[in-house]
Amino acid sequence: MSTFWSVWIIAITLFNIFGCLWLLWWTRKKPEDVIEEGENTLGHEFDGIEEYNNPLPKWWLNLFYFTIAFSLIYLLLFPGYGSYPGVFGWTSANQWEREVETADNTYNRIFRDYAKSSIEELANNPEAVKVGQRLYGNNCSVCHGSDAKGSKGFPNLTDNDWLYGGTPEAIKTTLIKGRNGNMPPMIAAVGGEQGAKDVAAYVLSLSGQTGSGDAEAGKAKFMVCAACHGMDGKGNQAMGAPNLTDNIWLYGNSEEAIIEAIAKGRRGQMPAFEETLSPEKIHVISAYVYSLSQ
Ligand code: HEC
Ligand code: HEC
Repeated sequence: MSTFWSVWIIAITLFNIFGCLWLLWWTRKKPEDVIEEGENTLGHEFDGIEEYNNPLPKWWLNLFYFTIAFSLIYLLLFPGYGSYPGVFGWTSANQWEREVETADNTYNRIFRDYAKSSIEELANNPEAVKVGQRLYGNNCSVCHGSDAKGSKGFPNLTDNDWLYGGTPEAIKTTLIKGRNGNMPPMIAAVGGEQGAKDVAAYVLSLSGQTGSGDAEAGKAKFMVCAACHGMDGKGNQAMGAPNLTDNIWLYGNSEEAIIEAIAKGRRGQMPAFEETLSPEKIHVISAYVYSLSQ
């Protein structure tokens, strides 16, 4: 800010303050002007109502003087006179920095304390679980839902069915590194559309359902799936290949959903959080997620 504008602002500010002072002094009614309290009116009348011309009460007047004195002192201590920084050197930026620093000290201490406990211990600490839940709400609920029950393509985190394992370590690894579920399109490997129908019928039969294809023929072709889903179809957590024999489905249990998996493949992506969240925060969220299925 140039000196001219600084002086300009100071002049306007002081002009206003002293203007108020002058106005107070000028309109003040001297006690000797008052004839007798209650008799002295301004001379107009409306429906029998008249306006008195009494002096302002003393305390009221003093309040005005006090306000003016206060503003002058305030403007000396805090910035307000143009570019003059004020005796305290206060700025909104340095106040903000101080607040961030205090908050950092408080919260980092909490997270450092939590980091000393294992995930199992934290999962039994209601305070830590609450903190984890809030972090979950900000970072995870968009995909897994605010109740963590998931939706199509986004796994339910509250049950005991895990793509990659539900141990504290597995959950933490999932959060730090992210996960890429990768099933390639298998339509050629099963021999086209009819093959897909047959395999789908076999997959459905594993969880007690039936499809329109020939499950017996499908069973033979399931060999190509077994590399990932296992010979028994119970899945493989090292690859994130889901168990196909239970009633929990990531993409739905309809024949169409299974044929679609075979035809197009499936590619679920859980983002990595090591860049966006501190290790201490990941530790606390892991405890929250772990607590959900305990
Ligand atoms: C952009 C969407 C998205 C966000 C955000 C997200 N996830 Fe995921 N998450 C997924 C998907 C998709 C999968 C499944 C990956 C797959 O299919 O292989 C997954 C898988 C997981 C798993 C593994 C589940 C299992 O059965 O093994 C856990 C645990 C998990 N997420 C927790 C979290 C937590 C905690 C957060 C927040 C820090 C989070 N996710 C944020 C999409 C997301
Ligand atoms: C290369 C390993 C691999 C092979 C081979 C493979 N899958 Fe998968 N499959 C996966 C993975 C990984 C997922 C989970 C994808 C995800 O997380 O998005 C999956 C998901 C599925 C699903 C969805 C399950 C659900 O819960 O919704 C079905 C159904 C399925 N596979 C069937 C098959 C069939 C049938 C075959 C054989 C024709 C097959 N898969 C071959 C790795 C494989």
